Amino acid sequence: MLAITAAAVATPLLTVPGAAVAAPTSTLSLDVSRYTAQTNPTQWGHIVEDINHSVEGGLDANLVRNSTMKEGAADPPSSWSAVTGGGGTGSIALDTSVPLTAANPDALRLDVGQDGAGQRVGVANTGFYGVGVAADTTYTATFFARTARYTGPLRVSLEGADGTVYAAASTGATSGDWRQYTVNLSTGRRKPADTSNRVVISVPAGGSGASLWLDVVRVTPPTYGTSGELRSDLMQKLAATRPGFWRVPGGNYLEGQTLATRFDWKKTVGPYEDRPGHQNDAWGYWSTDQAGLRTYLDMAEQSGAEPLLALFAGYTLDGTTVPQDELQPYVQDALDEIQYAIGATDTPWGAQRAKDGHPAPYDVRYVEVGNEDFFDRTGSYDGYRFPMFYDAIKAAYPQLQVVATTPVTTRTPDVVDEHYYNNDPAAFTAMAHHYEGYSRSGPKVLVGEYAITNGTSGNPTGTLSGAIGEAGFMTGMLRNADVVMGASYAPALADVHDFQWPTNLVGFDAATSYGSPSYWVQQMFGANKGRYVLPASLTGTDPSLSVSATRGDDGTVYVHVVNPTTTAVTTQLRVAGASAISTSGTVSTLTGDPDARNSITAPNTVRPTAARSVTTGARFSRTFPASSVTVLTFSVSGAVAPALPVGQPTSLRVTTPGYTDRSVAVSGTQGVTAAVTEQSSDDLRKSATFVVHAGAGRSSCYSLESRLLPGSYLTVTADHTVTAAPLGTTSAALRAATFCPAVGHAGQGVSLESLAQPGRFLRHYANVLYAADASGGSFFDNARSYDVDTTFLLEGGFWRSTVDVPLGNHSFQPTTPGYTDDVLRHFAFVAQVSPVSELDATTRPDATFTVVPGLADTSCYSFRSENYPDRYLRHYDYQVRLDPVGTGTYAQDATFCAQPGHDGQGVSWQAIGFPDRYLRHFQGKVWIASDGGPLPSDAPASWSEDTSWLTVDPLG
Ligand code: AHR
Repeated sequence: MLAITAAAVATPLLTVPGAAVAAPTSTLSLDVSRYTAQTNPTQWGHIVEDINHSVEGGLDANLVRNSTMKEGAADPPSSWSAVTGGGGTGSIALDTSVPLTAANPDALRLDVGQDGAGQRVGVANTGFYGVGVAADTTYTATFFARTARYTGPLRVSLEGADGTVYAAASTGATSGDWRQYTVNLSTGRRKPADTSNRVVISVPAGGSGASLWLDVVRVTPPTYGTSGELRSDLMQKLAATRPGFWRVPGGNYLEGQTLATRFDWKKTVGPYEDRPGHQNDAWGYWSTDQAGLRTYLDMAEQSGAEPLLALFAGYTLDGTTVPQDELQPYVQDALDEIQYAIGATDTPWGAQRAKDGHPAPYDVRYVEVGNEDFFDRTGSYDGYRFPMFYDAIKAAYPQLQVVATTPVTTRTPDVVDEHYYNNDPAAFTAMAHHYEGYSRSGPKVLVGEYAITNGTSGNPTGTLSGAIGEAGFMTGMLRNADVVMGASYAPALADVHDFQWPTNLVGFDAATSYGSPSYWVQQMFGANKGRYVLPASLTGTDPSLSVSATRGDDGTVYVHVVNPTTTAVTTQLRVAGASAISTSGTVSTLTGDPDARNSITAPNTVRPTAARSVTTGARFSRTFPASSVTVLTFSVSGAVAPALPVGQPTSLRVTTPGYTDRSVAVSGTQGVTAAVTEQSSDDLRKSATFVVHAGAGRSSCYSLESRLLPGSYLTVTADHTVTAAPLGTTSAALRAATFCPAVGHAGQGVSLESLAQPGRFLRHYANVLYAADASGGSFFDNARSYDVDTTFLLEGGFWRSTVDVPLGNHSFQPTTPGYTDDVLRHFAFVAQVSPVSELDATTRPDATFTVVPGLADTSCYSFRSENYPDRYLRHYDYQVRLDPVGTGTYAQDATFCAQPGHDGQGVSWQAIGFPDRYLRHFQGKVWIASDGGPLPSDAPASWSEDTSWLTVDPLG
């Protein structure tokens, strides 16, 4: 957790040669030997749906618009026109009388009139707001054609609006009936000045009286990757952010306005000519579906990322929910879709994938059920839609992680998707601390869409200030990588001539593309990410910076610093915990006018500086310019180990396959492993919970106090067994109760080395704990599965309160000097503190509460009013009230965990759903507050005292 305090720090100044550095007003301390979380391979990604022509006319490299002649059911087909040369004549029309396929009965018919010597008659397509034509480039044209009264070749050309031909090639002779033709056509050095070009297919001289039918026309420049479909500059830009995942195919595009216009994936695979296409009524244009499911999966794979596959879940944008008794076919459709993505080639849909050119399964680990189902007010998502999908997916594909699009209570999703859009960059800067309050034991979070939406008409991309707000939020998501498994800015792409969403990452036209300031932020974070999240604490007079730091396996440290203010901030960096630190590193900064934005004509107004060399070391200063995002790198050597959460109840889950339901526990006083769940008995849950304390010896070592036996710590004995024993006072006893963490097996979890018995690690063997050595003399020292047996996953404890509070009637008094005569009470259903002297017989029951086991978790507590026994203290919008209690979120918000109060006085009451927030009195009212968060009640002054309460005899 990033601590920002207001204490002034005077530090020596180490200047960077050649740079004028002001005296530091803040200090950024990094400990490179410990990490608080591991970043995820999926940390940063993209969402790609077909919005703003992101795909149709965008990532699908086809230059031809209305390739299947269906757009708008127009006659003649839109985007097409007749072209004639040398006095030739002809006309075009939509013709459904000679269907190419059942899915594509609509054809473009050209009726040639006069087409004699020196003449030509053809059709032209104006593309997606123009046709990009590059020099020295070979284009591939494929199309289906049918002719009558003509069997000569067809000519394909790329031409300027004035008729200048930049490339041309001819097919062989046509044969009458429908046939597919492919030609390559190459441009020379000359290239058009703009995109007012067209694709022309013509009947050369000699075709008088002929008819030509065309369908499924594609013309593509050289493409990205291997599938021959993806537009290079757009893919390159998105790939350059080093995405870990692509959330595909949506977004609203997945849902459609109606069931008929959803992303019906089965109609998007197989040959193009067999795909009917659909009206993309989420965003208002026709989709040929030539970029179908396989293409979406390819986009992710070919950029080096994994697809995060979004499944249609029975809800459409017009508010339709599929009734429960009609949902099963949609569930089956989703299972088939997953089979298409990852099934073996001897399964029906795995075989189809192979037929479509991708025999290998895609690397799909996450599937998302629906999109933004919080818009469904009927309750069907929690009620039956999510459960039906979840159960079916888990039964068929237990290895998959299932993402819910909104919190649910009927199942526990692996991940919940949260979306954040805001016009105000400051709102995102404030979100830099948002995830510090999230439960470490609940579902992970995907921030599947977020952006500052400060776009403007005529420019679909945002300002530097927006990008700075997003960067602040990203530092917080990165620091909390144990909660936030991934985040994707939305939307990714927009055609500058036709966009439906105000602010997007990358703008493009038919020829070129550019990155917004937000795009560069994505790249600065994506391309500069280490595996380990380092503790970083910022102190000083200027608390406005947002900071994150990560360290790679190769010792590279990446520090991101965001300065949203209008003044430069000089900070001293102090790097601890390394055996060596490089004396030089690199720095790259994105800065400028906060209102500046890039555009298709001025693509480089805001762009990060190229990385340049800077002096680094154990202490060095840097000035972070006003309105800037900086990425600083340097190298360190020395070990890096997990940091354990001091003061927190913690469990250690076994990672050995076959034993992963077990956690470290105590039985009697012996160290064991036990199968424990949230439903286990109180004592079992306590026995598998330990409170982490600083250990003896090195500062990065820890002791584990048994929650079942307070005062007893896991201790290694002379015969290498592990017991829960009262903490000794001698140095040897303290060392025996101290463990030093190391990175666990395969880079996951934690291994705990005994400080007293170096080389020996906490190991479970036949469900008993030992300090074991992979090649020692005892039976538990055997090497078999040693690495995995000594690796544990750190989790929030099964017993969340670290102190016990007697149940029954009590009153509560603040410990803050000057307020110790006050008492916690409710008045007009709002919690407040009042002097005891002001209470009379009528109001005393308002200051009396019955402490009961927590409504949401019995390892914590709830407070029932003595005066209104059907009401409990509950926080809502940070303020604490007296509310009638419900279930789900209501019960959660009425549950508080008991932690030791300030200076050993009383109890601090932690909000179970917001673990960094505690019950606090502030200006006479009661809140859940954090120590230095964004709200007035988060003011750090006297925070610890204001959040510590004495439990006293009931007043009422
Ligand atoms: O990103 C644009 C849209 O915003 C997405 O399609 C939808 O999920 C959200 O409302």
